[in-house]
Amino acid sequence: MRILLTGCSGQLGRHLAARLPADGELVQTDHNGGDFQCDLSDRRLLDKTLNRVKPDIIVNPAAWTAVDRAEDEPGTAARLNADMPGWMADWCAANDALLLHFSTDYVFSGASDRPWREVDEPAPGNVYGRTKLEGEQAIMASGARAVIVRTAWLYSHFPGNFLSAILARAGQGQPLKIVSDQIGSPTWAGHLADASLELIRRTEALPPGCSLFHVAGDGQMSWHEFGSMAIERALAAGILERRVPVEPIASASWPQKATRPVWSVLDCDKYLQFTGRPVPSVARGLDECLQLLKESACSSP
Ligand SMILES: NC(=O)c1ccc[n+]([C@@H]2O[C@H](COP(=O)([O-])OP(=O)(O)OC[C@H]3O[C@@H](n4cnc5c(N)ncnc54)[C@H](OP(=O)(O)O)[C@@H]3O)[C@@H](O)[C@H]2O)c1
Repeated sequence: MRILLTGCSGQLGRHLAARLPADGELVQTDHNGGDFQCDLSDRRLLDKTLNRVKPDIIVNPAAWTAVDRAEDEPGTAARLNADMPGWMADWCAANDALLLHFSTDYVFSGASDRPWREVDEPAPGNVYGRTKLEGEQAIMASGARAVIVRTAWLYSHFPGNFLSAILARAGQGQPLKIVSDQIGSPTWAGHLADASLELIRRTEALPPGCSLFHVAGDGQMSWHEFGSMAIERALAAGILERRVPVEPIASASWPQKATRPVWSVLDCDKYLQFTGRPVPSVARGLDECLQLLKESACSSP
């Protein structure tokens, strides 16, 4: 089985690359890395790539993930998040391939009193969420065999995410102010990659067409609670030497261009029922991620 992995230099892409079979049947691509470089926002280049690789499965974590910048560059975000998955799905439909695609909790409004289920009506409140929803809809309309995995609050030991940002500041002894009125499910990219493999292993059991699953860390908490937990566990793991104050603040005191949902906890029961495997807890994800961070710090010159 030949697998094409996009976005292989991104945080989820790197965890997927480490887990997908590396026996010559895995082909990796990214803007600036992998087996070859490809700008996926160019349909002609994408089709050329697909016709050359002829994958049985496309695993597609590539996306425009700059949530605030999407407000200023909606056209570019839409090309990556809405058009590109649709083009991939069209190719899959015409070539009997499967598309595994990733979407976001930000397709939801935030107005709920229970975790969001796959059947709940999306109502995105920002450009990023809207473009990701349009991507889902394009895949569903294509008729391709596809799995869409919505996840939330993704983090890893690589630079460029919430966890790495707060640990970097705390490591310099700087106090932290973290938003406490947005509640979600922080998800370690390693656990999401594991869950993706579980789904790939079970594709034969999927119904025809497109299936949608929610996969996020088991637990619900604010960014402030997650940040506080991360600081405590980083201290326990010896990654931080000193405790820094972690002050809760309101979203209104931390203005961001894109509005975030106040409640974006995902209900992952459908994934559990289908695979028989629960998504691990937020605390476990954090510990596994911090262990990798420690190992990578020890191995760097
Ligand atoms: N991050 C989160 O908190 C979060 C939350 C919910 C859902 N998700 C979804 O989860 C998935 C993975 O997210 P992530 O955080 O791992 O993303 P990421 O780290 O930002 O990685 C995205 C990858 O896509 C590549 N890419 C972007 N534009 C491209 C283009 N035109 N051509 C080729 N490659 C391109 C990027 O390469 P360059 O860096 O070189 O541009 C990067 O390697 C995405 O679908 C995202 O929407 C993420």
